[in-house]
Amino acid sequence: MNKTIFQREDELFFHTYRRLPLELDYGEGVYLYTKDGRRLVDFFGGLAVNALGYCHPKIVRAIEKQIRRYNHVSNYFIQDTQVELAERILCASQGMKKIFFTNSGTEAVEGAIKLARKWGKENNKVDLFCLTNSFHGRTMGALSLTERPKYRDGFDPFLPNTGYITFNCVPDLLSKVTERTLGVILECIQGEGGINIVSQEFARALKELRERYGFLIIVDEIQSGIGRTGKFYSYEYLELEPDIVVIAKAIGGGLPLGALLGNDRVAECFAYGAHGTTFGGNPVACAAGCAVMEEVVDNKLMEQAGAIGLYILTCASELKEKFPTLIKEVRGRGCMIGIDLTIEGQSIVDTLLERGFLVNCTNTTVIRFLPPYIIEKEHCDALFTELNDILRAKAEWH
Ligand SMILES: Cc1ncc(COP(=O)(O)O)c(C=O)c1O
Repeated sequence: MNKTIFQREDELFFHTYRRLPLELDYGEGVYLYTKDGRRLVDFFGGLAVNALGYCHPKIVRAIEKQIRRYNHVSNYFIQDTQVELAERILCASQGMKKIFFTNSGTEAVEGAIKLARKWGKENNKVDLFCLTNSFHGRTMGALSLTERPKYRDGFDPFLPNTGYITFNCVPDLLSKVTERTLGVILECIQGEGGINIVSQEFARALKELRERYGFLIIVDEIQSGIGRTGKFYSYEYLELEPDIVVIAKAIGGGLPLGALLGNDRVAECFAYGAHGTTFGGNPVACAAGCAVMEEVVDNKLMEQAGAIGLYILTCASELKEKFPTLIKEVRGRGCMIGIDLTIEGQSIVDTLLERGFLVNCTNTTVIRFLPPYIIEKEHCDALFTELNDILRAKAEWH
């Protein structure tokens, strides 16, 4: 008998991914269609990549146009789509002066660590801190700044001179940073960690300590950036003024693309040859990126992300009122929202999938919504009707 695609996958691949029991055919707008004819509403957004949904005509056109010109030439060449995208991103990133394109989020974080270290050599600073519950990527540098044991176990030793600061804990921050501190990296809204928002108080303390000690603030906007929260960057809500910013996910319109950006303080730290990549800034990915920027910034899709996000937050808060024994907290901004449960979330996610809605569960108890910014009220209403139904059944058991 022929093997199923799931059996073939199981035999062929390292078992790093627990795949969903679906065979996809194609995507369109906010919908994914399976080979057996089901239509799913996507509140998962390819893990925060598909800001414009599937097959957005502007992205498709941009990719087609560029791929007919050249698909790759290497970074020996100036490439017009790269330069246009750099201009667009820097224009949306107040205070940032320089950019370097990468293939992924974790590669952007590695670049940020290297940039910070170069700067640290001249300024006599060595210690890098992340926050507890953080996630910055899977390569060894990014993993050294990722706190959760789930990701770290078995991969030590990590980079020296790295450590943690307890999330939103100002006394811990005060006790850890010193003259030797090179930088603090943080997600202003933690994604994998369960949609935890950095407090104004913590951000203010961080800025004040930077004044005192002169370290770098590195903000990871890989999941929360490119308009997802209703502003271009989530740090704008905290007026954080970072020295280095890393982005990825949504910027490539579904193609692999990331970047690190730096302000005046670090703008001259990389000399020729100090850093590089073969594929980073691929011209086709950059062409898609220009289409993303046009929609998100010029055509104000990020404002739509903020508005629909507020609606989702309201629906989720209403559910919390209804099911206080099942929902601990509702958190998030724009199209990045989490419902923190008092029970494990996976069975709810599985039931939603059976009923045609794709959401994700992170950090065991948090149901996470990362919809494309084009999601509409009717999709949200349909989702929350199902969620209400599922929670009512659960409440009867509890
Ligand atoms: C905040 C954050 N940083 C870094 C990464 C790593 O990005 P990538 O998977 O593209 O390497 C992710 C991915 O989920 C992320 O959410």
